[in-house]
Amino acid sequence: MRHINDLSELSMEEFQELYRLTSNIIDRPEGYADACRGKVLGSLFYEPSTRTNLSFSTAMMRLGGSVVGFSDPRSTSTAKGESLKDTFNMVSSYADLIVMRNPREGAAKAASLYSSVPVINAGDGGHLHPTQTLTDMVTILRLRGSADNMKIGICGDLKYGRTVHSLIKFLQKYKNVQFYLIAPRELSIPEYIRRFMAEHKMQFFEVSGLEPVIPMLDVLYMTRIQQERFSSESEYRSLKGIYCLNARKLQEAKPELLVMHPLPRVDEIAQDVDDDPRAVYFEQARFGMYARMALLLTLSKQGHRRPPKTPAGNPYRCCTNPKCITKTEPYLPMLTVETSEGECCAYCDKPVEKCIPRSEE
Ligand code: NCD
Repeated sequence: MRHINDLSELSMEEFQELYRLTSNIIDRPEGYADACRGKVLGSLFYEPSTRTNLSFSTAMMRLGGSVVGFSDPRSTSTAKGESLKDTFNMVSSYADLIVMRNPREGAAKAASLYSSVPVINAGDGGHLHPTQTLTDMVTILRLRGSADNMKIGICGDLKYGRTVHSLIKFLQKYKNVQFYLIAPRELSIPEYIRRFMAEHKMQFFEVSGLEPVIPMLDVLYMTRIQQERFSSESEYRSLKGIYCLNARKLQEAKPELLVMHPLPRVDEIAQDVDDDPRAVYFEQARFGMYARMALLLTLSKQGHRRPPKTPAGNPYRCCTNPKCITKTEPYLPMLTVETSEGECCAYCDKPVEKCIPRSEE
């Protein structure tokens, strides 16, 4: 069963096939009006969303399918204490595909262990957001043809911005990409992404100023400071408004720059940028719906399959990340992966530590 937890797990051939299908749908959407007739998408949003939720729902409807689900977990059995395991076990017997957003890191990977249909990660806390990356890549490829040899600036909250982590991981597949990671030290990329970039010999420069690098860039990917992920309001307030791209700063940029943003924007892009032809963030959001149509259509062909027996995991390991899904769903097997920096959690990518299983305490 193919789940979409991390887009970088797709091979380049699989991605190119998805991109070709997206392009065909953009050029001739009416040809796909019945492509998912009779299919049902389960849409489980445990965290606020506008674009992602609406674009998945409209994508499914434009393919002739239908959507069930929720966007407020308070109205569901989760509020009664139901486990993720039971929810996915049950919903996957009703729906043909499931898209989920959850505030816990690694939640989509965890849910996929118990689902008999494909699970799509629509954002797991500050970890990953693969379908935004699909949207971002479709935007770059449609507008510029390739991402090879590009200088890409990513600006704002690189610590908690899940779209940033997914995009960097995926761009590893392209040749000679140079990254300018623009953030204050408090919001710089997490260690596991820095490690990933080093392991893959990706070229990156970590800088704090936006203006000095603007003239060099082919893509400027602006992001929102992720207020909801901060542990204190005062910390958020000290960093809020730290970057603001405006028409004056854009004067220094290349004429063929792409200004991108996953949206929603708060104050990091001034309204006076919107009419500049280099500002493509609303077009990017439109491409997102077509990219999701291609993904839903591709995955809907898999049908239902009983999930394999849950792997045993290592009961003598615990994740060090307090935001990891293993902290709130204690039945999950502790799955780990070996990295150059040691053993890490297979759900959220953070380091694990030795621990004593509850049963032996
Ligand atoms: C992003 C997200 O949810 O991570 N939004 C989106 O899906 N388009 C970015 C954000 O919320 O800042």
